[in-house]
Order: sequence, then structure tokens, then C-alpha cells
Amino acid sequence: MSYDGMRTPGRNDECWCGSGKKYKKCHAAFDDRLERLWNEGEEVLPRRLYKTPEDIAGIKASAEVNCGILDYVGEHIQAGVSTMDINDWVNDYLAKHDAISADLNFEGYPYSVCTSINDVVCHGFPNKDDVLKDGDIINVDMSTIKNGYFSDSSRMYCIGDVDPEWKRLVDVCHDSVQAGLAAVKPWYHLGDVSAAVQKVCEDAGFSVVREYGGHGIGKEFHEDPFVGFVGEPGTGPIMTPGMCFTIEPMVNMGKHKIKTDKSNGWIVRTKDGKPSAQWEVQLVVTDDGYELLSW
Ligand code: MF3
Ligand code: CO
Repeated sequence: MSYDGMRTPGRNDECWCGSGKKYKKCHAAFDDRLERLWNEGEEVLPRRLYKTPEDIAGIKASAEVNCGILDYVGEHIQAGVSTMDINDWVNDYLAKHDAISADLNFEGYPYSVCTSINDVVCHGFPNKDDVLKDGDIINVDMSTIKNGYFSDSSRMYCIGDVDPEWKRLVDVCHDSVQAGLAAVKPWYHLGDVSAAVQKVCEDAGFSVVREYGGHGIGKEFHEDPFVGFVGEPGTGPIMTPGMCFTIEPMVNMGKHKIKTDKSNGWIVRTKDGKPSAQWEVQLVVTDDGYELLSW
């Protein structure tokens, strides 16, 4: 096989995926199909990035903690809570569930979670002086490592009475993720997902951030492919069963341009100061669509 340069097992040998089945009864047809697509000039992912059933079980155990944290945040977040309180909740929950934050120390990131309020697009630092108030919208982006497996998802929380246009931003961003999910089909192109997300956001009059996107995930925090949320259908890598990635558009009420805080190199804000929303889900491509792993 040349699509990923890996050695292909003999037809009666054990499959490379770890199923214990004979290759000819397992991934032989899958590899032939990818090889054919690769020969036709399509972009395909290497075999090492497809998740085995064992990997998926590991990711699910990690995601159970990740989703548990976001549920906990949903039950306790309110006006008067500081974003450092959220960081403290996260640390307590992780410790009780034998897991660690994937964010902490990732490329030097100094906290266990990202908390991004209003015009903060992503990578907001928890801070005891950032106290939530009525009308705020906040993204809490959580990433967990448990037994070496990574999970990653984020949710928006509306604090008290939120301006209807801001609420619409939050809802449209959520709708765009649903539209992206609906476009996840094995053997189709990842660009179908990007285009579906972009259309929902732009039809609603909002804009999509270019510089950040989703990513493969599982045994590492960020694996191939990069998942942009502007793009053309029928372009990009082929989605194949076993591929695990995130859909996580950052959607701005105003222009798509962003700026990074020079004093810390992390906190990203909208250039025009208007609010931004983000929802993130993690999924695995299956034989007939996808399965959500973290949300
Ligand atoms: N959770 C983010 C993502 O969705 C990554 C945050 S990296 C950090 O990919 F270092 F800022 F935590
Ligand atoms: Co992510």
C-alpha cells in the first residue's frame, strides 16, 4: 500500500487494526478503497490515525469526565462566579475522576480550562477578577486526558438576561455545528463539513474565524487533519470510518478578524470588539455516519 507507506498484512494475517480478525475479513477492502482514492489524487489519512474499538473505548472514558465537567459548570455557573472559580471546579472534578487537563502546560498554556467571555474568541485565561455578570456569554472549552486518551469539547453559557441578538449568535453557532455533523459521512470530503458550517453562519449574517479550526484527536491532543470552517464541498481529506475529529467553529457577530493579546500570547479577541461564540464537539466517523464522543 502506498497511501500511507505502511506495510500491508498478508490476506490471512491478522489485521493491522487490532481486531484480531484476518486482514481479508477486516480492513482489506477499506485499504483497497483508500489506495484507489489516493491513486485518483485524493487526500487520505494514514492508518495510524484511525481509531480502533479499544481506542474509542478509551476516548469515551475520557469524554465521560470531559462532559461531566461541562455539565457541572452548567449547573453552577451564574452571575457572581469568577472564571477562576470555574478553573477551581475543573481541577476538583479532574482530581476526583483520575484525569488531568490537556490544556494545562500545552505549549505553555497556564490554566486547566479556557474561559472566553463576550468578545474573547478563544483561549481566555481564568482570572479571579473576571466575574460573570448578567448579559454575558461565555465559552468554557475543556480538554481531558484519561489513561492517555484525549477528549475535547466546549459549550456556551448565557448568564441571566442576554441580548436577543447575542443569543441568536450563540444559537446559530450551535446550529452550524449540527449542520456540520449532518455532513459527516464516510467516504465523503471533509470540505463538505466546512462548507455546511460556513453556510449556516454566513446566511445568518455572522462571520467565521479563519485562523482556528477543529482537529483530529485521540492519542494526541491535536492530530491531523486540520478542520477549517470555511471551504468548498468536495475538497479536503476523505472522511473514513475510524477517523476522530472535532467540529468547533468560532463565530463572530461582526467581522471575522481577530487579534491575539500581546501581553500573554494566548487570549484571542475579535478585532472589532463584537461578541464571538463557539461550540465544540468530538466525533468518530462510522460506517454509516458518525458517533458523538464528547459534546
Ligand atoms: N481546547 C482547544 C481546542 O479546542 C485547545 C486549547 S489549547 C490551550 O483545540 F492550550 F489553550 F488550552
Ligand atoms: Co479542539
